[in-house]
Amino acid sequence: MHAGTATATASVATAALMGVGMLLMSAPGAPLPDAPAARAAVQRADPARHPARHPAGAVARAPRVYAHRGASAYAPENTLVAADRADALGFAWVENDVQLTRDGVPVVLHDTGLKRTTNAEEVFPDRAPWAVKDFTAAEISRLDAGSWFGARYAGTRVPTLRRFLERLGRNRQNLLLELKSPETYPGIERATLAVLDEEGWLDRAHVRDRLVVQSFGAGSLRRVHALRPDVVTGFLGAPAPAELPAYAGFADQINPSRSGLSGGYVAAVHALKGPHGKKLQVNPWVVDDAASARKVNAMGVDGIITDAPDVVRAATKG
Ligand code: G3P
Ligand code: CA
Repeated sequence: MHAGTATATASVATAALMGVGMLLMSAPGAPLPDAPAARAAVQRADPARHPARHPAGAVARAPRVYAHRGASAYAPENTLVAADRADALGFAWVENDVQLTRDGVPVVLHDTGLKRTTNAEEVFPDRAPWAVKDFTAAEISRLDAGSWFGARYAGTRVPTLRRFLERLGRNRQNLLLELKSPETYPGIERATLAVLDEEGWLDRAHVRDRLVVQSFGAGSLRRVHALRPDVVTGFLGAPAPAELPAYAGFADQINPSRSGLSGGYVAAVHALKGPHGKKLQVNPWVVDDAASARKVNAMGVDGIITDAPDVVRAATKG
């Protein structure tokens, strides 16, 4: 599903989410329920009125922070430099976007076109509209993917997934890998899993703790789950609560846009178990300011996907 389609789906789902949230909100002045689960649900739905209290001495668990496209507020997105910047700031988890070149090589880029983040127009002036799928890996390797962000990044390259994995391995970092626009790239699931396997990212340790594959495409995620049922997966979007049980059959995470997210929706996701028998997780995106980070954290999210991981960590560290 394209981001635009996902946005539309999210909008449709918002009314349903609001419904869940409203159900969980208490009237002004009403006491909290005694049952712990019901109390926690009301607190998550309306944290401003009912802030969660923790036992004396207890520390609220900080959410996992994912560096979106690397630490992309500070370095050109989806490059090795952005992964290194996240590492230098102390962040283990990096998000990236994977697409396929014309010759079937998985590369790390967000846009399905090359114009915004590379000098493709200058290097290949007669190749409009400069779609990633129309260029070979060798051609893409010639492009500058850093100058658009700042002169000091001139010469930064578009990494292949293989090079990206090597760098994360060297940094001892983990990967939230997005299959971008899978409808554009038939076979992207097998091609991506093949590289992950060849680079040692599908062994038990990586699959258990160091890798999540996510996508806006439910069909794509179903294919990943069918090919490698052991891999942790995340659906990008906010399915209506009534649809969540179906998603729990193949996705371990529901990762929605932060806009429209409510504590009630987080509770509805958390009430379900994913394909690996664990509570479904919620990781909203893209949360780049402290107030928004505190707001979604108070809803009980498991992680936060952000261009500015240092800002989010400082705002939510318990
Ligand atoms: O990880 C979530 C986020 O990356 C989804 O949106 O457009 O940045 O790929 P986008
Ligand atoms: Ca992404």
